[in-house]
Amino acid sequence: MRLQGKSAIITGAASGIGAGTAEVFAEQGARLVLVDRDIDGLHGVQDALAATGAEIRLCPGDVSERATAEAAVAMALEAFGRLDVLFNNAGVMTSGDFAEWDEDRWDELLDINLRGMYLMCHAAVPAMLAAGGGSIINTSSVMAVLTEPGYEAYTTSKAGIVGLTKALAVSYTDRGLRVNCIQPGWIDTPMNRRLAEELGGMDKLTPLIRQQQPLSRMITTREVGNLVAFLASDDSSGISGAAIPIDGAASAAI
Ligand SMILES: NC(=O)c1ccc[n+]([C@@H]2O[C@H](COP(=O)([O-])OP(=O)(O)OC[C@H]3O[C@@H](n4cnc5c(N)ncnc54)[C@H](O)[C@@H]3O)[C@@H](O)[C@H]2O)c1
Repeated sequence: MRLQGKSAIITGAASGIGAGTAEVFAEQGARLVLVDRDIDGLHGVQDALAATGAEIRLCPGDVSERATAEAAVAMALEAFGRLDVLFNNAGVMTSGDFAEWDEDRWDELLDINLRGMYLMCHAAVPAMLAAGGGSIINTSSVMAVLTEPGYEAYTTSKAGIVGLTKALAVSYTDRGLRVNCIQPGWIDTPMNRRLAEELGGMDKLTPLIRQQQPLSRMITTREVGNLVAFLASDDSSGISGAAIPIDGAASAAI
């Protein structure tokens, strides 16, 4: 119960890494504001977590809009009286030939993956400082450092998240607010199941995962949730400004 009583916002909580982390947080005693643009998905996660007895509020909205960030922070303060943890995780992954990408597509991805992170941090930081600090965890990606053709926008967004993380950590760690990011490799989520479908089935994706990720399997969302819970907890009190891979040695391999 290392998150007992902590008030936490999780974005992108309706699916994948966000939903898996919400489960771990709920089991470890956190009180949750779950943010996502998928309202049905949010209700599904809330129902699935009912047995944990965790206090949960839902905040439907688009993270690329300031109103969503402000609503989520206001909801945490109203419901729980404080904000201790922000897991800034909502994101999309799209790819395609760079020459074919127009500005609208570029802006759409960057607005969700990077501007959304800024907006959430901007709304949350004053509330977290008022509570004496806390922990922000941003979801970057192994693709911030290892990439492939067609991922210019995605890689730019995920590398930008590392910069935002380090800059915020330098600004606020001395006031008790730690800021870190995680860099997942291949995680078993709907995002990757959609990718498998595009490639023609999981049989097509599995050899690629074995080749790129020495762990030779996808990492579960609960395994990611365990790392995020550690970073959210006081057990990680010495860690700030870090970009931590959870990629089964993918970023260590040639
Ligand atoms: N799955 C992986 O292998 C992997 C690897 C590295 C990084 N990531 C990152 O992890 C994060 C979560 O990805 P996932 O794999 O769980 O994907 P997912 O598609 O399963 O879940 C993403 C969630 O974010 C929500 N979302 C997307 N855009 C939103 C917006 N504008 N406003 C509010 N909610 C929005 C979606 O509705 C969805 O519920 C993303 O930032 C992704 O880039 C994933």
